[in-house]
Amino acid sequence: MTQPTDIRRARGLRPRLLDLFSCAGGAAMGYHRAGFAVDGVDIASRPNYPFAYHHGDAPERLAALIDSGEIERYAFVHASPPCQAKCALTVGTNQSRGWGGRHEDLVAPTRELLEKTGLPYIIEQPNGRADIRRDLTLCGEMFGLGVIRHRNFELGGWTIEQPAHVAHRGRVRGWRHGRYFDGPYVAAYGNGGGKPSIPELQAAMGITWTDVREELTEAIPPAYTEFIGRAHLAAMAPVEVAA
Ligand SMILES: C[S@@+](CC[C@H](N)C(=O)[O-])C[C@H]1O[C@@H](n2cnc3c(N)ncnc32)[C@H](O)[C@@H]1O
Repeated sequence: MTQPTDIRRARGLRPRLLDLFSCAGGAAMGYHRAGFAVDGVDIASRPNYPFAYHHGDAPERLAALIDSGEIERYAFVHASPPCQAKCALTVGTNQSRGWGGRHEDLVAPTRELLEKTGLPYIIEQPNGRADIRRDLTLCGEMFGLGVIRHRNFELGGWTIEQPAHVAHRGRVRGWRHGRYFDGPYVAAYGNGGGKPSIPELQAAMGITWTDVREELTEAIPPAYTEFIGRAHLAAMAPVEVAA
């Protein structure tokens, strides 16, 4: 059966990508630059999201798209479920302060739904999160960014070649245990002392369309998903649709 995605490609239209847990669109911008038309879904209001946007629960939205058959409009799904339940930053420092563990684990139910779509997909999580496969790990230095920001990706239904890790040029600058360390990278997380200014964060991540600190510190640098999106589009077979 000819899928709507095949028709879009044959007509030279951008294939559609569903961006679950989209926040303000760090990942989305990279996919857009790679050649996708992107639709975001986030439970919080995200007026800075630069593309089509659905305000609501991501697993609920995905389940509804599967039930209605509308999922066939999409070629690829990206999911960045919130990591706070298990990621190292939370379990270490923050759990002792009572912050960790309050978030529902959304990775497993999201993966279950993604498998039902029959589409290629990717799930993203920071380092320290044990329960996704590390099919791909990206680092800001691979793209010459001002953040280290290691991120792991589990791929469903497709594969990608892991690029070689690039040696870091120095330290993450900021205060640690009363001492200031200089370095080429900023700490793109939290709001504590010595953290970068908004313009520093924007420049380091390559994000210009939001100045909300929380949105910047949650984002994947667009360079990561532009790399992933281009690799995915290159891996897809050329499409021919009968007249
Ligand atoms: C790590 S951030 C995603 C970052 C995004 N990929 C980017 O690159 O900018 C996780 C997002 O999930 C959202 N979120 C949390 N629970 C959600 C749910 N049940 N449904 C939809 N979004 C949710 C949060 O509001 C937050 O914006």
